[in-house]
Amino acid sequence: MPSAAGAGAAGAVADRLLGPKERRRLAIVLVGLPARGKTFTAAKLTRYLRWLGHDTKHFNVGKYRRLKHGCTQNADFFRSDNQEGIDARNEVAALAMDDMLSWMDEGGQVGVFDATNSTKLRRKMLLTMAEGKCQVIFLETICKDPAVIDQNIRLKIRKSPDYADQPDYEAALADFKARLVHYSKAYEPVDEGSYIKMIDMVSEQDGQMQVNNISGYLPGRIVFFLVNTHLTPRPILLTRHGESMFNLNGRIGGDPELSATGDIYATKLASFVHKRLKSQHSASIWTSTLRRTILTATHITGFPKVQWRALDEIDAGICDGMTYEEIKETMPDEYQSRKLDKLRYRYPRGESYLDVIQRLEPVIVELERQRSPVVVVAHQAILRSLYAYFTDKPLDEIPHIEMPLHTIIEIQMGVAGVQEKRYKLL
Ligand code: F6P
Repeated sequence: MPSAAGAGAAGAVADRLLGPKERRRLAIVLVGLPARGKTFTAAKLTRYLRWLGHDTKHFNVGKYRRLKHGCTQNADFFRSDNQEGIDARNEVAALAMDDMLSWMDEGGQVGVFDATNSTKLRRKMLLTMAEGKCQVIFLETICKDPAVIDQNIRLKIRKSPDYADQPDYEAALADFKARLVHYSKAYEPVDEGSYIKMIDMVSEQDGQMQVNNISGYLPGRIVFFLVNTHLTPRPILLTRHGESMFNLNGRIGGDPELSATGDIYATKLASFVHKRLKSQHSASIWTSTLRRTILTATHITGFPKVQWRALDEIDAGICDGMTYEEIKETMPDEYQSRKLDKLRYRYPRGESYLDVIQRLEPVIVELERQRSPVVVVAHQAILRSLYAYFTDKPLDEIPHIEMPLHTIIEIQMGVAGVQEKRYKLL
């Protein structure tokens, strides 16, 4: 039974064979002023890497600060001439870094270290602590667009525990702005070590990305992912194909046509999509290359359609076309192995869920890159895997996620993260 799949596994093996010990662990150290989208970027990157099977953890230094010093410090705590405040902040950063390095010692692979880390002195402290233990890449988020900064500040005041006990919005706003001024005075942009700089990449216009001294499989994937993500809100509609003739008989895989009920769903789906996306002509419809998804999208008109091989259902290999009952009777060992570890189990001459996730990676990057709505008409295992990415579900849960027929799951991606709505059409 394979424990890992595809390019991720091959890349990791190559890096392990070629690189020194500390290159097996990676610290992505965020850098940037407050309200520049660091936590959002850190959370998104963590979700992506976890979904790809890398043991990844987000360490938020703000949480350590609040645990040690409470939530009530005002802007003075962050003054660049308040040595006591600077020492206290460095102390909690060192605590979080220590925790991250211990977690890596126990097998953790990628730590995402989320703090402003906005002075050279602070970054030197972190680099010294990490020496010989992990590779460090600084990820600096620079944002000069006043509208985006303003939006981030408002979101921060509404969401941050630092202002949960401050009922006066204007007072919270004034305090946070004063904090920003203190940080700006001490801010030193990164020009040392390995780094990725994301400059104005959340604005409507494409921003800029600078990369320095980055090599290796995983750092390369991270750069590719980050260059394709943005915050323009747009819906992604996920749906399984309408009921197929195989669904009726409990058979898996194959390339069946739709049942009469499946045909009705195809009609209902088209009128839903036309209503929901009526004015958004740049939307696109993605199906697999299998008949049941193409037929399900057949009545949707006026939008470009794309057939992706990567969206084809999990390949059940020698079990393709059988019922679960038949597999249990004729191949009891296979049936049992799948039951025991549905995520890693690979059908003989077919695929595992881990294989499916690897082949869906380009689909995820493309979904992240799109700025217009996308309707994805696909299959049970495929949609479980895609849905798990957006909702940050642990890998082991993916093969067991409920993915009903004749239901649309709308994922809304935007500044406030990911939201979900469901529409049951039949
Ligand atoms: O039964 C429908 C189906 O899409 C099959 O083609 C596929 O093998 C199966 O679902 C995937 O679900 P599970 O991983 O639970 O067997």
